[in-house]
Amino acid sequence: MPVRALYPGTFDPPTNGHVDLVQRGSRIFDHLTVAVLNNPGKNPLFSVAERVEMLQECTRTLTNVSVAMFDGLMVEFARKQGATAVLRGIRAISDYEYEFQMALMNRRLAPEIETVFLQPAGRYSFVSSRMIKEVFSFGGDVTGLLPPNVLKRLRGRMKAEKQ
Ligand SMILES: Nc1ncnc2c1ncn2[C@@H]1O[C@H](COP(=O)(O)OP(=O)(O)OP(=O)(O)O)[C@@H](O)[C@H]1O
Ligand SMILES: [Mg+2]
Repeated sequence: MPVRALYPGTFDPPTNGHVDLVQRGSRIFDHLTVAVLNNPGKNPLFSVAERVEMLQECTRTLTNVSVAMFDGLMVEFARKQGATAVLRGIRAISDYEYEFQMALMNRRLAPEIETVFLQPAGRYSFVSSRMIKEVFSFGGDVTGLLPPNVLKRLRGRMKAEKQ
């Protein structure tokens, strides 16, 4: 039976770490949906529509990957998508505690769905959206850590915010 997986996250903005994980996921699952959490309360830098668009641009060449947005319970959205696996990334031990808690809560909510953890390439193991935004806002160089289309949008967004 084909295995469909969901890769949920905030992706504000998508980084090369996220894209690395999507590529790895697309090789092991028959289909992978990147699911962008709609979380206006968190005051994201990019709207959910922009995040979906950026991820579509980054994953265009991967034919078994699609991008969608969701709100509410992740496992409910996974069920709606027919997903039996959830993909999450582990950069360092520090990610593990939170991811472990979430995986076990999700298992309680939806025992038929397995959480699968993958590690990114070592060169992306320190990359997070939050740190990228912070470094970029102080003028630091983040080339090589973001897909080129995301870097372009980030430049545009930060310029607009300063005006
Ligand atoms: N560089 C990376 N390598 C591997 N996995 C990653 C990387 N960045 C994020 N992930 C994983 O992707 C999933 C979604 O993460 P999320 O959208 O919170 O990104 P983030 O970079 O952690 O953003 P933030 O800094 O806002 O928390 C999580 O499982 C997270 O561990
Ligand atoms: Mg995070």
